[in-house]
Amino acid sequence: MAQILFEAMDAARLIPRSQVQFIQRDADKMTKNEQKYKITSTSMERLVSTSDILLLCVRPAQAEQAVSEMARFGASQKMIISVLAGVPIRFYQKHFGEKAQILRMMPNVASAVGEGMTIFGFSPHARADFRSAAQMLAAPLGPSMEVPETLFDAATGIAGSGPGFVFKLIQAMAIVAEKEGFTREQALRMASQVFIGAGRLVSKGENPADLMIQIATPGGTTEAGFNVMEKAESSKWFQETIEASIRKARFFADQY
Ligand SMILES: NC(=O)c1ccc[n+]([C@@H]2O[C@H](COP(=O)([O-])OP(=O)(O)OC[C@H]3O[C@@H](n4cnc5c(N)ncnc54)[C@H](OP(=O)(O)O)[C@@H]3O)[C@@H](O)[C@H]2O)c1
Repeated sequence: MAQILFEAMDAARLIPRSQVQFIQRDADKMTKNEQKYKITSTSMERLVSTSDILLLCVRPAQAEQAVSEMARFGASQKMIISVLAGVPIRFYQKHFGEKAQILRMMPNVASAVGEGMTIFGFSPHARADFRSAAQMLAAPLGPSMEVPETLFDAATGIAGSGPGFVFKLIQAMAIVAEKEGFTREQALRMASQVFIGAGRLVSKGENPADLMIQIATPGGTTEAGFNVMEKAESSKWFQETIEASIRKARFFADQY
């Protein structure tokens, strides 16, 4: 995730590479990534003391150790952006203090192509300069939406895991296309564009219910498909899919 975020920010030329530093645990990986990305690795102490904004991209199970170390070197005075799934703001407040500047940010996998749906949750005392710096840094990842923490787990299930459910649907559409004689490449191109186009129509303000009526000529091809979807209760199982994902996000958040 750190690499995806750095690549997107670097491509947008947001910050000169000379002003970016990073740390990992593994010294060999740090050397390789220094060469690959032409940025400097450093110690946690130096990273924290010389940075204005700290971007935390460890796994949730590694958070306690990384955050304790950051706090020891004075991170409570810095702006902290965390992409850790399922870790609530209160966890960071416990380490960095009630008034700490924290952004819980959830990019999704499409951030890599600037089409992510990034969810923002700021700590209660987040300052305006922190908010605008974070907005600027996340802009290359795609659109963003700020939500209260109470909605974060739901957003995780919908926007975070959502691309996974869409991949399943794209795959199913492509399987049929291949069965019908299209090459794999043609099948994936067609299926992915169908999702991009349908998504764009809705994102421009069209109502999906109206679009469904518009496309389904009585007795026509789309209606034939809708009949199968209705019989299979596809809307219900898709809703249940997303609800299962949200339940899991709540379960993870409850661990903190
Ligand atoms: N994948 C997604 O689509 C997605 C979406 C939203 C959010 N996220 C979140 O992104 C986070 C990172 O996921 P990932 O897949 O990128 O994990 P990852 O590949 O395992 O990367 C974690 C990195 O953290 C470093 N690290 C761990 N503990 C450290 C410590 N104490 N000090 C310094 N560096 C430390 C690791 O260093 P080493 O390489 O040396 O081990 C590694 O480079 C997760 O919390 C996940 O919830 C992921």
